[in-house]
Amino acid sequence: MPTEVVRVDPKHPDARAVARAAVVLRAGGLVAFPTETVYGLGANAFDAAAVGRIFAAKGRPAHNPVIVHLASAADVGRVAADWPAVAQRLAEEYWPGPLTLVLPRAAGVPDAVTAGGPTVAVRVPAHPVARALIDAAGVPVAAPSANRSGYLSPTRAEHVLRGLDGRIDMVLDGGPVPGGIESTVLDLSGPVPRLLRPGPIGPEVLVRHLGALESGRGKPAGAGGPLRSPGLLARHYAPRTPLELAEESGRPRVEELARQGRRVGWLACGEPGLAPAGVQLLSLPRAADAYAAGLYAALHDLDAARLDVLVADLPPARPEWLAVRDRLRRAAAPEEPTQGSHP
Ligand code: TXA
Ligand code: MG
Repeated sequence: MPTEVVRVDPKHPDARAVARAAVVLRAGGLVAFPTETVYGLGANAFDAAAVGRIFAAKGRPAHNPVIVHLASAADVGRVAADWPAVAQRLAEEYWPGPLTLVLPRAAGVPDAVTAGGPTVAVRVPAHPVARALIDAAGVPVAAPSANRSGYLSPTRAEHVLRGLDGRIDMVLDGGPVPGGIESTVLDLSGPVPRLLRPGPIGPEVLVRHLGALESGRGKPAGAGGPLRSPGLLARHYAPRTPLELAEESGRPRVEELARQGRRVGWLACGEPGLAPAGVQLLSLPRAADAYAAGLYAALHDLDAARLDVLVADLPPARPEWLAVRDRLRRAAAPEEPTQGSHP
């Protein structure tokens, strides 16, 4: 299918363009749209066949559930069976925004959304285009990141098209997204809140609302059942070019690889100085928010340069860098043969 690209103003999206995209969603189609974190690939969350098309377009394993995006917290009851007091407090503080809450699912939610599991992940995004689209569609919108499964998340419409052109109906192109790292995923369905994916809202601020907070994906929900958070598989968000990480500066490793005649890309953090001869150098600011905003675009660009190997400086092991370091580690992790369904 040809993918229609519709440009929209990110702050004041044209209502007619949004209305057309909403019609596509209601008809069972797939629309990619900007959120404040990354671009999402949306379908009507109540339409199991449409959600199935998301998995087909992305090549996503069926055991990986998707986030349901809502127009406001008032809609949570349409998809979740329970709304604990702590969820209410977090929603008041962080919605609309990059916090995803995992809650017991409501009966009407298709299995495709939850991967057959007992929970559903929900968030209210802050981006004006996302909000306008969900509002106009009038239905909860299931949306993973708009990339082929396992690959880098998209922060611009051209990244979406690189992976999904011809596989989806429409892209609302609202330009580069402001955030650049996927939402924090917090599981509130168990006895103790669990951080399933670090993101823009850090554990140090969440614990203030929660008291206790566990982290990590925990045990699978049951033998053969869905993983607690399959997005926490070690390798994810990865470029095709092999990526190595270096604490502090990657310069020694970059120089060594260049001496071996390898074509090297270097993703530096801060001011790296001059690139060694023949090395493709990109640098991102040594400030966590600005770095996050540029991370995926930099990796997309280096990956498109057809190099032999990429080296990234790891930013400091401090709380504000937690999500960035998490994504870099996953991007650099070797393929997991036991989880082999990750294309
Ligand atoms: O910022 C974001 O979260 C973006 C934008 C588009 O909203 N979306 C996104 O979706 O990153 P996706 O599918 O790429 O990542 C969603 C993560 C995955 O790790 C998935 O396993 C987890 O959330 N997840 C979804 N539903 C879940 C559930 N019911 N229980 C546990 N984890 C869940
Ligand atoms: Mg994703």
